[in-house]
Amino acid sequence: MPTITALKFGAVFFLFILFGLLTYHNYSQLESLKIPQTIYLGKIELDFLWQSPDYKNDTKSAEKQKNSPFNKGNHNGSHCDIDPNSRLDCAFNKLMNVKECQARGCCWIQVVSAANKTAPLCFLPSNYPSYNMENISPTKSGYTATLSRKERTLFPNDIRTLQLNIMYETSEILHFTLKDPENKRYEVPIDVPVVTEKASTQLYTVNFTSRPFGIIVQRKSNGLVLLNTTVGPLFYADQFLQISTSLASQYISGLGEHMTNLILNVNWTRLTLWNRDQAPHKKSNLYGSHPFYLVMEGDGSAHGVFLLNSNAQGYPIMPPYWSLGFHLCRFGYKTTNVTRQVVENMTRANMPQDVQWNDIDYMDKKKDFTYNLQFFGDYPQMVDEFHKKGLKYVMIVDPGISSSQGAGNYKPYDEGLKRGVFITNETGEPIIGKVWPGPTAFPDFTNPQTQAWWYENIKEFHDQVPFDGIWIDMNEPSSFVNGSINGCPDNNLENPPYVPDVTGGYLRSHTICMTGKLYLSSHYNLHSLYGLTEAIATHSALIKVIGKRPFVISRSTFPSHGHYAGHWTGDISSNWNDMYYTIPAIMLFNMYGIPLVGADVCGFGGAASEELCVRWTQLGSFYPFMRNHNAWKQLPQEPYVFSESAQSAMRKALFTRYTLLPFLYTLFHKAHSAGEMVVHPLSFEFSQDPNTWSIDHQFMLGEALLITPVLEPKTVEVSGYFPSSTWYNLYNGSAIHSKGQYIVLQAPLDTINVHVRGGFILPIQEPSTTTAASRGNPFNLIVALSNQGGARGNLFWDDGDSLLTYETGDYTEIIFRAKNNMLLSEIVHLNSQADDLHLRRVTVFGVPSPPQNVSVNGLWFSDFSYKLDTKVLTLQNLSIFMSEEFTIAWF
Ligand code: NOJ
Repeated sequence: MPTITALKFGAVFFLFILFGLLTYHNYSQLESLKIPQTIYLGKIELDFLWQSPDYKNDTKSAEKQKNSPFNKGNHNGSHCDIDPNSRLDCAFNKLMNVKECQARGCCWIQVVSAANKTAPLCFLPSNYPSYNMENISPTKSGYTATLSRKERTLFPNDIRTLQLNIMYETSEILHFTLKDPENKRYEVPIDVPVVTEKASTQLYTVNFTSRPFGIIVQRKSNGLVLLNTTVGPLFYADQFLQISTSLASQYISGLGEHMTNLILNVNWTRLTLWNRDQAPHKKSNLYGSHPFYLVMEGDGSAHGVFLLNSNAQGYPIMPPYWSLGFHLCRFGYKTTNVTRQVVENMTRANMPQDVQWNDIDYMDKKKDFTYNLQFFGDYPQMVDEFHKKGLKYVMIVDPGISSSQGAGNYKPYDEGLKRGVFITNETGEPIIGKVWPGPTAFPDFTNPQTQAWWYENIKEFHDQVPFDGIWIDMNEPSSFVNGSINGCPDNNLENPPYVPDVTGGYLRSHTICMTGKLYLSSHYNLHSLYGLTEAIATHSALIKVIGKRPFVISRSTFPSHGHYAGHWTGDISSNWNDMYYTIPAIMLFNMYGIPLVGADVCGFGGAASEELCVRWTQLGSFYPFMRNHNAWKQLPQEPYVFSESAQSAMRKALFTRYTLLPFLYTLFHKAHSAGEMVVHPLSFEFSQDPNTWSIDHQFMLGEALLITPVLEPKTVEVSGYFPSSTWYNLYNGSAIHSKGQYIVLQAPLDTINVHVRGGFILPIQEPSTTTAASRGNPFNLIVALSNQGGARGNLFWDDGDSLLTYETGDYTEIIFRAKNNMLLSEIVHLNSQADDLHLRRVTVFGVPSPPQNVSVNGLWFSDFSYKLDTKVLTLQNLSIFMSEEFTIAWF
């Protein structure tokens, strides 16, 4: 079932194709490209065409089309005889009539079929000029060849000669580049691996066509075509690149950031990647760009395609332990006293909370690195008080620096101007846009001078206000005027021959001029990397200033972001639909290597009803990063503002999260040390089961926990898919033995359904209301036995916020295994923090019959109980030192 996709973008191609079954350890090391891109996923599936009733049965209209004067009039004649589902657009976002279309050397045929009504009317003929391949020769890492074109395309400045490099990078990764050998063109300033040797074995085969050039990649084991660029001509002009390929199936995920389901719609869908401050809604380019797609091939195998990669820095950052606790924020905590009261109310309501935040309200006239003396006069003291309570504190910093305060009145701007840190226009003046404080200049974070200046600002502010992390917002970058307050020049960067389908219609819409000059290149090239470069600068500054693991949450992202920071999904609304869309978003960001991701719990814009906020707090308790954040002037939505019963439901969800934090933290360690994802789509765990491929109403934490949230109002039931396995209710251990089926679960308002997969062991901890306190509590283990009576799990533990603990060996790792009625621990790595870890309780799910005896380290242990109805064995009041290996047996 081939589907076609065309990738359109600027500058230099780097394509990485990854193979493998669904174990995505590599993905977070993969990084990518590029400036404005539009990616079309259009059908070329013949069956689809013939299935369309009005086309299939209407032979007359088909005949009419063949004889259409448009068709005849086209000088490409039979080269226009292309199935509508295989067409490649030639209008390129423009409205085009038949004459204009044919003047481009393209075909024009009106399609009558309703099913194909979105197929382009103006499309490339099958003989549209492309490149021919010559001089193919082997290299140490693969092949090289020269591509050349004789005829021009409809875009100005075709690059006539290209250098193709194919690198058999690893057995699972094929990498190819297409470069202009004559002129150095802009390339994404992210390191890519340097491959010197061809991988000795490969899961793929690579074939070429030379006239015209095309590349065909197949999976060796079954011959499946994964990439086939012969379906369309290659474009490589100065400001327009296009490569087209068929896709191996219709199960495609990725190509963010958009508000989409996990599986993309491939029916003539156009996805534009261009970072933009845009409250999530469908069909708009959003805050980040992630030019990566994943294809489920149909037999449980999958491959992914990236448009640039780097092994050098891809694994996600290890977050501080406290950052996995509950965060509370809103736009509109207007004073320190209001902010204090929020924390006080949380404490009084016995709600877990680790981090209090402030939005731009704390600033003096909304200027970065200042605070309002009238309303936040005792700001430093407030932060100190939070610290004394065991809480952490995070505040917002925007990239736009106020430029209108007058010389001598605002140091960040004066100093920045002196040191040349801002993005400039053609005459070397800072480009001035408009953000919260009014006119603002935009730091160029690609400039080492800017990085130093940014660090100094952060340091000076931290010397006054001892914050623990930074929230970076508005960094697409966002500007309330298009381009600048003085407009932008009219040139080919501002008005390129091809403008992707960006919201607003211009690349500069809601951002700064493309002509903006940065240290590394133009803003045109670097636009979508703005948030990433700010995240890198903020991350390094925090390491120097705080000396601990940096905590940075950013709105704008680009591949490799996860190595520096986390992300939240922006200005979603307080409604059920937006709540659902947070699930695919969170799964996709995990796929993009940014596991520390969350969405505004209870929604940002609009009023959250009590029921919605309860359900969202339950769902959010399983986001890797959990923050309740609310917009200016909206009704309050902190947990304590709701009724007693709602509060109790929220409290239960929050305490469940806190109980599971050792497990969640261990998942982050796996992400950091091995590139694994924290949130898994079900399809990644059960790739052989096609029913799981498009599931995005449920998700998994790691391999072991299945979350089935309620996403609709007024219901106390939820239907969830349970892949074939044994699943245990997290709260009471009752089992579901599923053959791979939907099951209706009870979901009273105080409950979110969470199931533990048979075969896994979860390290958990008795919760307190802060992680500072709960980290000192005893541990428990949940042992969820498989049908064969086995299970495994592990715990990663360290001090929770020192830098490089894993890299320097300053951590403890314990493996737990259950088999044959025995549970064993194995110490893989030990440091002194393990001395404080005690195991108090072990709960074993799925013990078939009541044990008569239990032993711990060979000694009889009597404090156990067994529940006949649920088959749960519980050992309580244990006093096991986890720093020593132990054995528990039941028989
Ligand atoms: C936009 C952000 O997305 C939102 O979270 C924040 O509250 C406002 N900016 C104000 O800073």
